[in-house]
Amino acid sequence: MCGIVGYVGDRPAWPIVVEGLRRLEYRGYDSAGVAVLGPESGLQLRKTVGRVLGLLHDADCPAPNGSAGLGHTRWATHGRPSEANAHPHTDCTGQIAVAHNGIVENHAELRADLRSKGHSFKSETDTEVISHLIEDAMSHGLGLPAAMLQLSGHVQGPQAIVAVHDGDDDSLCALKLGNAGGVAVAHHDGQGIVSSDLPALLPIVGRRGHLPVGFLEDGEVAIVTRQGIAFLDRTGRRVEKPMLNVDLDDVLVERGGYRHFMLKEIMEQPQAVTAALRDRVDFGRGLVTLPDLTLTDRELAGVSRVVLIGCGTSLNAAHVGRHLVERLAGIPAEAESASEFRYREPFLDPSTLVVAIGQSGETADTVAAMETVRQSGARLVTICNAPNSQAARLADHALLMGCGVEIGVASTKTFLSSLTLLNLLAMRLGTARSHLGSAASRKLVEGLARLPGNVAQLLESADDVEPLARSYYGRNNFLYLGRGINAPVATEGALKLKEISYIHAEAYAAGEMKHGPIALIDHAMPTLAIAPQDGLYDKMANNIQEVKARDGDVLAVLTQGDDRLSDLVDHSVFIPETAPNLTPLLATVPLQLFAYHIAVRRGCDVDQPRNLAKSVTVE
Ligand code: F6R
Repeated sequence: MCGIVGYVGDRPAWPIVVEGLRRLEYRGYDSAGVAVLGPESGLQLRKTVGRVLGLLHDADCPAPNGSAGLGHTRWATHGRPSEANAHPHTDCTGQIAVAHNGIVENHAELRADLRSKGHSFKSETDTEVISHLIEDAMSHGLGLPAAMLQLSGHVQGPQAIVAVHDGDDDSLCALKLGNAGGVAVAHHDGQGIVSSDLPALLPIVGRRGHLPVGFLEDGEVAIVTRQGIAFLDRTGRRVEKPMLNVDLDDVLVERGGYRHFMLKEIMEQPQAVTAALRDRVDFGRGLVTLPDLTLTDRELAGVSRVVLIGCGTSLNAAHVGRHLVERLAGIPAEAESASEFRYREPFLDPSTLVVAIGQSGETADTVAAMETVRQSGARLVTICNAPNSQAARLADHALLMGCGVEIGVASTKTFLSSLTLLNLLAMRLGTARSHLGSAASRKLVEGLARLPGNVAQLLESADDVEPLARSYYGRNNFLYLGRGINAPVATEGALKLKEISYIHAEAYAAGEMKHGPIALIDHAMPTLAIAPQDGLYDKMANNIQEVKARDGDVLAVLTQGDDRLSDLVDHSVFIPETAPNLTPLLATVPLQLFAYHIAVRRGCDVDQPRNLAKSVTVE
């Protein structure tokens, strides 16, 4: 949430910082700003409300001149989107510029205290106090790095901060406090760069290649200069940091001819499923091996309870996972929002296995919940798509999706990756504790082997969903219904519609409908029903009848060849027949496409919906 880039080198900073921000825009996009430090021109600021490209619109205004600078693309927390509230923020002297990701929880007290010392403020943001605290520390003789280190004694809450000072155009400083999301630091060919995510590092190496990258830990400061990087621990002592060799090809993502990243990512789902299965299933023996879960059969058999956590789409995956673990492994399982879990006093013991799900691995609530788990002695697994993320580093075992970076703010392919990996995890647990016999395992593996083809087959008729969107894009309310393992799929379908088309959509476990939501049904309220031919098919059929009896339109996701329900409903979309544990993956695809086409018809910004950000690194 919020993207930060800082650059110092021998090239003009402005285009590199703007390009970096463009690549981080998925993290927030309500305003943007850049500060460039020139040897003669001092600190020059440019800000805009809205997208990063707005920074380039003023053709009469020459580009700021200098080879050190920093920039920020914002997702507003304190203060509405405006130029005054856009980062970077400066101090009273106008010599210090700060870009920030996080929330200064005690900003009101700090602001009052600074005011009493004579500081005046230009914005409503919590961030601005940081530039004034640095000014205050530097006015007592500290250099920028020492002033940054002192911040940890003043500001409360997780923060990632990058700052420059007019007195030194050869360096910038970065600080990380708590779980403020990633802070990646790299040096290449006389250029140093800091960024909240890897794609913004690309401009310093061109478009291809490897780059050694260091990730700041809690309390650490990086001093980045043309000569190199120095890392300091929270006491100011210099530390050696292991640098990870990151392949930037993996983070270089283009739209590849598709109109939107979201559509491209929906179409990539057969490959996403394949990537999740690769090297984790012995198709010959009909067995899930899952070698990245390095627990013995005995250890796995000792798991007495599984808790699955995540947020948003990842929470929906967790709810599907609960069904999978109970069904395939016979272990009691529960799923909960990480944002609730972290503030409970959850019962955790060494026989509990916690599975934290998240595409980014940086969601603040999920990471904080994982920290609670780490202290409890419970085993901790993450399913995530970012190998260098906080989640991947915190977990005892990281099951990486490997499906390529997801750029569209609405998660699509990572949902299917999560569901695939949850199937593997549940099967591995089931086999280890002999709940899943070899014949059953073999059958399930056959289903997994067909899965990428099934998804590809569905996508071949992706265009069939568009006419439905054309008929329904003008409606203002939708009801989504599913049962059992497909109830969370209904929730995910409704979430997709809400977030990218801004249409109100409610999801219910279909059995709940008659306990209230049925009052909403009339000819203006369409229902999306997920009714594959599984054990709850007849129950779903009853619920669909109940909607039809009240003049409601029903659009149903049905198993191929289901004439009974397709004759009853207004519109059907068919999915290939598959095992019940895999229906959620197939049923999701038409719901993603439906939301996508509706959003396009309504003229919405599909890849960057209003008010959202891809990585939610504040709580
Ligand atoms: C919805 C969506 C969000 C994320 C949520 C968690 O399409 O993308 O609801 O699922 O913010 O993000 P991760 O999975 O990165 O933890």
